[in-house]
Amino acid sequence: MSRLYGDKEDINSDKVKDFFNKRANKDLESDLSIVLFQDKENSEQRHEEEKKVLFDNIDVTGKKVLEIGCGIGRWAEALHDKCESFLGLDFSEDLIEIANSTIDFENCNFQVMSATDIKVDDLLIKPPFDVIIFSGFLMYINDEDMEIIMDEVNNVGSENMKVFDMEPVSCMETRLTLKDFYSEGLESDYSAIYRTEGEYIEIFKKLNCTNIHSEDIFKELSDHTETKYMFFVVE
Ligand SMILES: C[S@@+](CC[C@H](N)C(=O)[O-])C[C@H]1O[C@@H](n2cnc3c(N)ncnc32)[C@H](O)[C@@H]1O
Repeated sequence: MSRLYGDKEDINSDKVKDFFNKRANKDLESDLSIVLFQDKENSEQRHEEEKKVLFDNIDVTGKKVLEIGCGIGRWAEALHDKCESFLGLDFSEDLIEIANSTIDFENCNFQVMSATDIKVDDLLIKPPFDVIIFSGFLMYINDEDMEIIMDEVNNVGSENMKVFDMEPVSCMETRLTLKDFYSEGLESDYSAIYRTEGEYIEIFKKLNCTNIHSEDIFKELSDHTETKYMFFVVE
C-alpha cells in the first residue's frame, strides 16, 4: 500500500480490472457513480461539465467514434445522436454488461476487450475511426503498455483522426503513483498513475498527428493539491 512520487512504478492491471468489476456490482447511488467516484448528484454534475468540455473541443458530427476504456458507456449516451457510430471497448466484463443493458442505440456497440490487445478483425464496428476518446482511462495504463496502445490507435485511426483525452494528472513536478493504496472514499485498495502533463505530451507524440493541445479544467472543482484535471486534443 503506497503513494509513490517520482519513479515509474507499474501497477497491476488485473487488480485494476478486479476493482472496476467489483465497483460494477457495488450498491452505488447511480451508474455514473461507478466510474466518476462521487455521489449521484456530483457525478451527474461532473458528467454534464465533462460533456461540455468535449463538445467545445471535438466535433463528432457524422464521425466514427471509438472509446477505449468506455466503462458504463456514458460517452455513447452523450454522442449517439451526433456521431455516425460509437464503439466502446473495456476489459471489465461487468461494466460492458451495464453498458449493453442500459444503452440501446442502433449506432452504438460495446465489447469486452483489453486495450493492450485490440483484435481489429473482431471489432463490432470496423475501423478506421475518426475520433478516439480516452476518458479517465490512461491513468490505469503502465508506461510500456502505453506504447502498444498508441500503436493500436495509429492502426485503427483514420488519416485525419482526432484523439481526445480527459485525465487527472499530477500538478507537481513529478508523477504520483498510487499502488494498492487503501482509499476510504472508495472502500478499496486503489491503483492509478498521475502522470505530468509533459509525460502525456511525450506519449501523444507517438500518434500519427502533428498538433497537441492541452488545457486545465475544473479548477474550481478540484480540492487536490497534488493532482488536477486536464484535457488533451491530439490531431
Ligand atoms: C474511471 S473509468 C472511466 C470509464 C469511461 N471512460 C468514462 O469516462 O466514463 C476507467 C475505465 O478504464 C477501464 N480500463 C482500465 N484499464 C483497461 C485496459 N487495460 N483495457 C480496457 N479497459 C481498461 C476500466 O475497466 C474502467 O472502465
